[in-house]
This record gives sequence, structure tokens and C-alpha cells, in this order.
Amino acid sequence: MNQDLETVVVVDFGAQYAQLIARRVREAHVFSEIVPPTVTAAALAAKKPGAIIFSGGPKSVYEDGAPSIDLGIYELGIPILGICYGAQLMARDLGGTVEATGRGEYGRTILTQQRDSLLLDAWAQESTVWMSHGDSITEAPRGAVAVASTPEAPVAVYLDAENQRCGVQFHPEVVHTERGQELIANFLHNVAGLAPTWTHTSIIESEVEKIQAQIGTEKVLCALSGGVDSAVAAALVHKAVGDQLTCVFVDTGLMRSNEADQVEETFRRQFHIELIHVKAADRFFDALEGVTDPERKRKIIGELFIRIFEEVARDLGVGTADKGPRFLVQGTLYPDVIESGSGHAANIKSHHNVGGLPEDLDFELCEPLRDLFKDEVRAVGEELGLPEALVWRQPFPGPGLAVRIVGEVTRERAEILRNADFVVVDEIRKAGLYRSLWQSFAVLPAVRTVGVMGDGRTYAYPIVIRAVTSDDAMTADWARLPYDLLETIANRLINEVDGVNRVALDITSKPPGTIDWE
Ligand code: XMP
Repeated sequence: MNQDLETVVVVDFGAQYAQLIARRVREAHVFSEIVPPTVTAAALAAKKPGAIIFSGGPKSVYEDGAPSIDLGIYELGIPILGICYGAQLMARDLGGTVEATGRGEYGRTILTQQRDSLLLDAWAQESTVWMSHGDSITEAPRGAVAVASTPEAPVAVYLDAENQRCGVQFHPEVVHTERGQELIANFLHNVAGLAPTWTHTSIIESEVEKIQAQIGTEKVLCALSGGVDSAVAAALVHKAVGDQLTCVFVDTGLMRSNEADQVEETFRRQFHIELIHVKAADRFFDALEGVTDPERKRKIIGELFIRIFEEVARDLGVGTADKGPRFLVQGTLYPDVIESGSGHAANIKSHHNVGGLPEDLDFELCEPLRDLFKDEVRAVGEELGLPEALVWRQPFPGPGLAVRIVGEVTRERAEILRNADFVVVDEIRKAGLYRSLWQSFAVLPAVRTVGVMGDGRTYAYPIVIRAVTSDDAMTADWARLPYDLLETIANRLINEVDGVNRVALDITSKPPGTIDWE
């Protein structure tokens, strides 16, 4: 939590939208933080927030076990915006009426303004909003007036300008609400009077100060994975403490095409960061010889990674407090912090999820991204001058290509897959689709098939194209790639990648499929 920043606290009543609300607040350049509804008035007051937002939540405030809020929060004199359930809860708590009318609204609905307000400043008389409610507010809370309605919600928006409290029945945070972002900004700037000071530059400045305060003159170690989180964390720490930072990059031989080179180029040559590049491919391929079981592959890779990291750390004198690094950089993001529920993220999050780091290495964690969402991490990365290809890289599993090589992982098969993966990604980038896909890559099955090339018969591997859209990898849909693009990819795979004579497309969603094949 940034004590000196104006902060909006989002009370999460269990809606899937709380994180989205927090992000929208930040898009309006005000810092935000999520808390559970059990937060007490005293705990909230201690945070000195500039405003509070109640999120949506269960269907009805009258439902058994529906969450409530410490009534003392209304006495703090802090501006409040209630959204959906939050608007109903505040209406009920403050003398308004919420009724189960039996006529809910779901999806796009027309909102009609009844009077001008700071909240709907300069909106058209009518606009489209996204609704999801069963009960309706039929009377605004004490001191508030209704400023807009929908066919089934007589008080779809209420405002008590004097006490700086308001409620909206619809969801301003979702894109289907035409001017939702503007409403959130109006609440923050017009109703609550908060200044738009949370910018990417201010994020960098405040994180740099915090890192300097934490690390002082000590040394700090960062394991780079090739992914965006560890890269941005390292770049931030480097900006803060310069050559007190040493980065370690373990090349497992199972990385994507150009990944190792790019890490080297970016960190050593562009940023002049001390980089220990451990070329360990032989050790990984030796350890994986003859192994076909996916979980054993993961375990072997995870354990070997730890052993190598441990060797490097000990060489650097970790544990000999006088000269070795005492701090370890972790790319923990805000969603990890929220999900851990404790307000303090996991002890040591496994390095790019390959496996845990050894506990007997006595590190203190430095987590410069723990206040940030992924999109902010990317923006900070761009502002720090990291290359676009690194900042926008799609997620990649810790065990790397090994979980996309069905059957035994050999140097040769890893090379076939890496070359095939390069072609798939290259064409998807050229088609302008890379950023819109959650992941897009090639998979190498453990079968060979017959083909003909020229006059000869071939007996070689097929490549499977896997491309999915997703928000969080928990569920995913297979991407409807254009036929022309698929044709180009297939032609290039067969012509350019030795060992490949057939191309297939994976059209399984998750569930029931997983994104990766193993
Ligand atoms: P699945 O394949 O289970 O994967 O749908 C969900 C997301 O996690 C990635 N993945 C992994 N990440 N270690 C990781 O760090 C792993 O062992 C691993 N397996 C899968 C996968 O790429 C997808 O983004």
C-alpha cells in the first residue's frame, strides 16, 4: 500500500468484477486497493482512502448470508460509490428502499437521465448500460436524489452530492456500458475531488523510492525467466539500485526461439546489468533422457533448475551476509496478493512456477510489482525502455517446450518444436493477432506419419497449431484463426522445418482440454 498516494479502496462483495473496478480506477489515474467486506471502519479509516467503492455481489441484499458492511464506514465522511449490489446495500443501510420486484434486468439496457448531475456530466439523455440485477432500488437513500432510471429500475442512479455518496445499479466497469469509464472518472474527480496523479511515471518513481528504502546498499539477486514480470521487476530494481543487482538466467534449452539471446541483448547490452547466463541445456537434456511422463518431466526440470540456481547463489556468497546478495527479486503481481488473501503473498513464489526455490538460502524478498496489475506491469516495462517483443510476450510455462513435446524430450525434438513454434508465432504476429491471443504456439506429438514430398515418401512428425483466447488461463476458447493464415503457417512449417510433414489444428476449448498438451 502506498501511504502517500490518494487511494480508492474497493470493497469486494464477491463479485467477479472487483479487480476490474480496481483497474478502471487506476485507468482514471487514481491508485486503488481491494479489501474484503469484513473490513472494519477503524481499519478503513487507518488507510485514509480518498474514496470507497462498493462492488457488485450476490443477487439480493435479502439473501441469507448476503454480505453487509460495518455501518461505521458511513460515518467516516469518505466519498462512496456503490455499484449494483453495493448501490443496493448502501440504499438499504441509509434509509432507502430495495424491493424484490420480480422484474430484474440482465444485459444491455437503456438508461434515461432525469436530471443533470456531476456523475453523468454531459451524458446524452439516453445511453446504453449493462445490467445484472433481480431486486431494484425504488427509493433513494436519505439525502440522495434519483438522477437516472431504466425501465425496471426507478432509481438506477442516485447521488447525495453533499455527502459525496452515490450508487449505480448498472456495471460501469464493463465495456458494454457505453460511458462507464467516464462515470468512474466523474465519481473520482468530480464527486470525490481526487486528482489524477497515478501515472506510469509516478508508479516508477514511487517503486524506485520503495526499492531504495528496502535495499539500501545491499546486493540483490533476480532470476530472469524470459517473461515479462521478472524482466520488468529487474529493470525497476536496476533503475533503483544500479549495479547492486545481479540477474541470473538459466537457459534450459527448452526456451522459445531467440528468448535467450533477447534476454542477453536486453539486460547485458542495453541495460548493462550484471547477468549470469547459465547455459545448462546439456544438463536438462541428460536429465530428461528416456522420460515420457509429463509430471516426471516437470519435477525433473523444477529440481534441476533449483539446483542450478542454488549453485549460482552460493557462488555469489549468499548467506555470507557481509558480501553476498541478501535480497531476491520476485515478480509477484497484485492479483497474486489478493488471491493469497493474507495481504502478504506467498513466501517464495516458485520461480516462473518451475518449482520452489531452496528454503535454506536465506533471502529477503523484494517485490516491486506487488501493487500492480499485468497491464500496468507492461506499461511500466514499455516506459522503462524494455523491447516491445519482451513486454508483450505471451505467457510461457515454466517447464518450457518440454510440456509441448509429447513423449521423450531430446535435443533434436526440442529443435524441431522451437523452429516450428517460431513459424507459428511469426505468422500470427504478421497477421496482427499476437496480442489478441492469450497463447499461440506449436505442439509436437509423439507420432510420425507418412507423407510424400517430390518423388519420395516421408515419415516424419506432425505439428499441431494451438491458439487460444482467454482472460486468465482458467478457461480458454480455441481461436478462430483465418483459413488463409492457417494455410500460410502450414506451408511454411512443411517447407521450412526439417522433420515435419503434416500440420493439424487443435480445436479444443478449456475445459475439457488444457491449453498446453501436457
Ligand atoms: P493448462 O495447460 O493447464 O495451463 O491449461 C494453464 C496455463 O498455465 C501454463 N502452464 C504452466 N505454467 N508451469 C507453469 O509455470 C507449468 O508446469 C505449466 N503448465 C501449464 C500454460 O501455458 C497456460 O498458460
